[in-house]
Amino acid sequence: MIPQSFIQDLLHRVDIVDVIDRYVKLKRAGANFAACCPFHSEKSPSFTVSPTKQFYHCFGCGAHGTAISFLMEYSGLGFVEAVKDLAQNLGMAVPEERGEQQSGLMQRRRAEGEDGEDLTEIMLTAAQFYRGALKEAPQAIDYLKKRGLSGDIAKKFGVGYAPEGWQNLERAFPNYQASTLTTVGLVKQNDEGRRYDIFRDRIMFPIVDVRGNVIGFGGRVLDAGEPKYLNSPETPLFEKGRELYGLYQARRAIRDAGRVIVVEGYMDVVALAQHGVEYAVATLGTATTPMHVQKLLRQTDEIVYCFDGDNAGRRAAWRALENSLGQLADGKQVRFLFLPQGEDPDSYVRQHGKENFEKLLNEAIPLSQFMINTLSLQVDRNTSEGRARLLQEAKPLIKEISAPMLSLMLRKQLAELAGFTLQELDVEFQIKSHIKAAPQHPKREAAVAQPLRLLMLLLGNMALCKKISEFQVGLLAESPDYAPVLEVIRFVENYDQASVAAFLEATRDSPYESMFREAQSRILTDVMDADAAELDIQSIFRNIEIQKVTTEYEQLMGKTLRTEEDKAQWRALDRRLAEFKGVVVTERGGSK
Ligand code: CTP
Ligand code: MN
Repeated sequence: MIPQSFIQDLLHRVDIVDVIDRYVKLKRAGANFAACCPFHSEKSPSFTVSPTKQFYHCFGCGAHGTAISFLMEYSGLGFVEAVKDLAQNLGMAVPEERGEQQSGLMQRRRAEGEDGEDLTEIMLTAAQFYRGALKEAPQAIDYLKKRGLSGDIAKKFGVGYAPEGWQNLERAFPNYQASTLTTVGLVKQNDEGRRYDIFRDRIMFPIVDVRGNVIGFGGRVLDAGEPKYLNSPETPLFEKGRELYGLYQARRAIRDAGRVIVVEGYMDVVALAQHGVEYAVATLGTATTPMHVQKLLRQTDEIVYCFDGDNAGRRAAWRALENSLGQLADGKQVRFLFLPQGEDPDSYVRQHGKENFEKLLNEAIPLSQFMINTLSLQVDRNTSEGRARLLQEAKPLIKEISAPMLSLMLRKQLAELAGFTLQELDVEFQIKSHIKAAPQHPKREAAVAQPLRLLMLLLGNMALCKKISEFQVGLLAESPDYAPVLEVIRFVENYDQASVAAFLEATRDSPYESMFREAQSRILTDVMDADAAELDIQSIFRNIEIQKVTTEYEQLMGKTLRTEEDKAQWRALDRRLAEFKGVVVTERGGSK
């Protein structure tokens, strides 16, 4: 545990502008700084950083927070890691209080060798050694040329060569016996205690994390030989289910393109970049994990999985689908591209070029279609048994989906296929109000439930309670989840000098006491100014309203539209939904 006082001190000394500028180039804009938002794709900058408030806020996607939260969101660091990173840059030593071990802290410790060396330094030294060795290995250079790679691209990806021989790394590491070399997976020791390099006579692809640290390698044999690819083992630095090859290099291009392609191989990523498709990443010889998906959806709204057209490719795609469902939010898109038999992205783009590859990409099928097609193919829809199986197979998948609109659309389609009404299907799927609110930036809301977040925002800025309209209070009153929030609002209505402390005192015996305390404790770590809080509050209300409209929409959907009134209601809801999806943008004032 890191003492609160240290965190306050750190936040006091750190300049958020410097911190963010290391990752995202900031431009001065009046009193603030601005840039295109690193958390969603956009063409004009709505990401602002305030030096006076030491706070960032994106007017596009609502991302906001302190220097600590920026590092957590942007680099995927844990809280403790982020604090340590900032402290290190300021030359401050992080004091540790005895107490519960935090996982972030353990991770950090694991990333250090026994004597406290920085393991990434070792990996960097190795990468530099391999790069140097490539220059002296004409056969390796020939190989890369034969595969169509230019020197520039090889450089961009830091491609190197591990020479033939058993102890070449001795040249880079005078202390070849150091245990850290085995810890990072560069050296192995045989039964007789003799040490040798793991990578020999291979083209070396460094695997880099989002901060630019080398954390592992993939090594390819030059010609024939087994295994074709040798990857670093899992080490304290390298966790395959978390990392994506090429993400570090692709970041900018992903933002510009508004999408990311996920492919299977190192060479696919590099070859695509060579041909100008710079927004591709690869999983590292593993299936796509929910963590991968989450990481990618933080950077962009669209993922296109690109797999071979064979059975193995389809199986991999299905795994990717399963692991994507829980990460989806409305407004995010996942699609699948199956290449013609025998082709991979590398061979395809080399033969047909960027334009044709992107043409295929634009025709990639949406996740919903891939799911429905695959499920329908597995059953005979002409029999009741077949249709029942279809639903049975679909049920667990649908329940995984966190995006309300997508879930609704899929259920509608499934119901049609099975000859059910939507309501019958929902009963069958035991979906009650499966319509969870659509968070604007899911990673944030996923961590804190919406009622709790609203509570935090209001307790942190009690004056904002006065800005909540009657219409909005009405929305809150419709769901018992928001009862605690109403208590705060009423409290502020009744007491002019309302403070958090007074409120907590006043609600000591309330059934929501623990929730109030939880919210209050979170205010301490999630510092927020009133403007940002107000925006956040409004976006929560928008979510609540989406939820309401979607539910009404659903009820109508199960009904035959007989009366003119039904039809008018339908059209009105349809329009509201279009507004929410951003097709039409309207301002919602306090009146309605
Ligand atoms: N892979 C692996 N170990 C292997 C084979 C493959 O880890 N023995 C992983 C690698 O990440 C590789 C990916 O699976 O990049 C795809 O493998 P494959 O299709 O066999 O290779 P390609 O990427 O087509 O490689 P190349 O074009 O260099 O033959
Ligand atoms: Mn290939």
